[in-house]
Amino acid sequence: MKPIGVFDSGVGGLSILKALRAALPGEDFVYLADTRHAPYGERGDDYVADRSRAIFRQLIEEHAVKSMVVACNTATAAAIHLLRRDYPGLPLVGVEPALKPAVARSRTKRIGVLATRGTLQSAKFGALHDSLKEQAEFVLQPCDGLAAAIEADDLEQVDALCAKYIRAIGEYGSAPGQVDTLVLGCTHYPFAQAQLLAHAGPGVTLIETGEPVARQTHRLLEAAGLLEAQDQGRVELLTTGSPAALQAAASRWLGL
Ligand code: DGL
Repeated sequence: MKPIGVFDSGVGGLSILKALRAALPGEDFVYLADTRHAPYGERGDDYVADRSRAIFRQLIEEHAVKSMVVACNTATAAAIHLLRRDYPGLPLVGVEPALKPAVARSRTKRIGVLATRGTLQSAKFGALHDSLKEQAEFVLQPCDGLAAAIEADDLEQVDALCAKYIRAIGEYGSAPGQVDTLVLGCTHYPFAQAQLLAHAGPGVTLIETGEPVARQTHRLLEAAGLLEAQDQGRVELLTTGSPAALQAAASRWLGL
């Protein structure tokens, strides 16, 4: 049985893997955390595109994956167009900040977007933002260091950076001019959900992308006739960094 490949710069993509396993319990997954080369968000497009291509080659050649999920907003922005061109027959899903669902959800139409510098500066994000900026006002906040702090499980630093970036976005609430919705535009950030809400206040809605990505993956596999029907699939964890750190994150957040 062929697995689905999933990758991120580190542990962030586990937030996507969690939704994938819930939607596709019979599938096998191979997850690669490219920790040695993280953070992607502060390294530039060429670097991230090269890493994404190398990981695709590895997962296709060594693990015979039947499909790939790019569980990283930064890698999707930098490389998905190249990967689609390199592998035209492969069912392939990426992630991007959920601006559209946020517009549908927000009442004040003032929406904060937390993401890496790489994602926010990308042409792909620029096009998405342009297509929606008549419908809402987006406050774009690059969060340097936050993915790295989550990666290192440095809770003090995670809390300090969440406080800083949440404050920089503005005021929160349901009155006109206040931010009522925050888009988590990096797959690491759902793991800082408690800290983000503690600083923004409980009335704010956080929007992440795990479930829509899982639904899209299901749709593509079904259309290609590639869905598996075993009871419980397996997960193989690979990393270019410390296996113990990835294992600890996977057991803490996914019970693996
Ligand atoms: N998890 C990644 C994302 O979704 C990037 C984190 C990093 O900077 O490596 O953008």
